[in-house]
Amino acid sequence: MILVQVKDLWKSYYLGGREVPVLKGLNLDVKKGSTTAVIGPSGVGKSTLLHIVGALDRPSKGQIQIDDANLLEMSDDELAKLRASQIGFIFQFHHLLPEFSALENVLLAGMVNGTRVNHRKRAAELLDRVGLGDRLDHRPGELSGGEQQRVALARALHNEPPLILADEPTGNLDRGTAFELQNLIFELSAEEKHSFLIVTHDHQFASKCDRVLELRDGILNKINLEEV
Ligand SMILES: Nc1ncnc2c1ncn2[C@@H]1O[C@H](COP(=O)(O)OP(=O)(O)OP(=O)(O)O)[C@@H](O)[C@H]1O
Ligand SMILES: [Mg+2]
Repeated sequence: MILVQVKDLWKSYYLGGREVPVLKGLNLDVKKGSTTAVIGPSGVGKSTLLHIVGALDRPSKGQIQIDDANLLEMSDDELAKLRASQIGFIFQFHHLLPEFSALENVLLAGMVNGTRVNHRKRAAELLDRVGLGDRLDHRPGELSGGEQQRVALARALHNEPPLILADEPTGNLDRGTAFELQNLIFELSAEEKHSFLIVTHDHQFASKCDRVLELRDGILNKINLEEV
């Protein structure tokens, strides 16, 4: 079962009236319950791709389908609803709100979605799941980098989105902490509730995903890391 289907995706930026093409006819399928790693050097458009698939930005051209939704036909309001219910984001710099506790940061994701589950209980359970059951009331400034990243993962999971987009989720972590977060991601994907699309520079992490795609010259190609 395919969750995400991207066809002939183009994205250009315009700098001083000059067109800078970044994505050039890219295709991508993401299966339900899978992990896909996207690798490639700095500046090739990995974050651009995640932003477009996550409906945070619009492409210049192309088709993007998430489940039954055709993103290009949707209004900004519809896209916001889709993001809130279908997509979880983990950014390299986690974007937690500094004034709020770990629990509140996770809870805020649920408020955006507006569903009527017991948010507080679920947020606390998720934080427990990522090993932060005893840090619920800590603010981001009172958490280590790895702990903040785990709060970001809990927040991404809060609405049980089928698709989780992660932009270098372990980029700022030491090996041990990065490894823990990776294991958590693989545990979650094994439960088949979420599909992960993960941008990473860490080839060891990438090679443990179901498949590895390399972004180069504006398109994705399947790559076997053992041969690199
Ligand atoms: N808003 C923007 N306006 C103009 N150019 C942009 C904009 N955002 C990104 N770019 C350019 O598009 C290209 C791709 O950027 P992107 O952030 O997607 O790269 P990336 O692969 O995620 O790199 P990194 O590994 O360093 O995070 C870069 O050359 C960048 O300078
Ligand atoms: Mg990037």
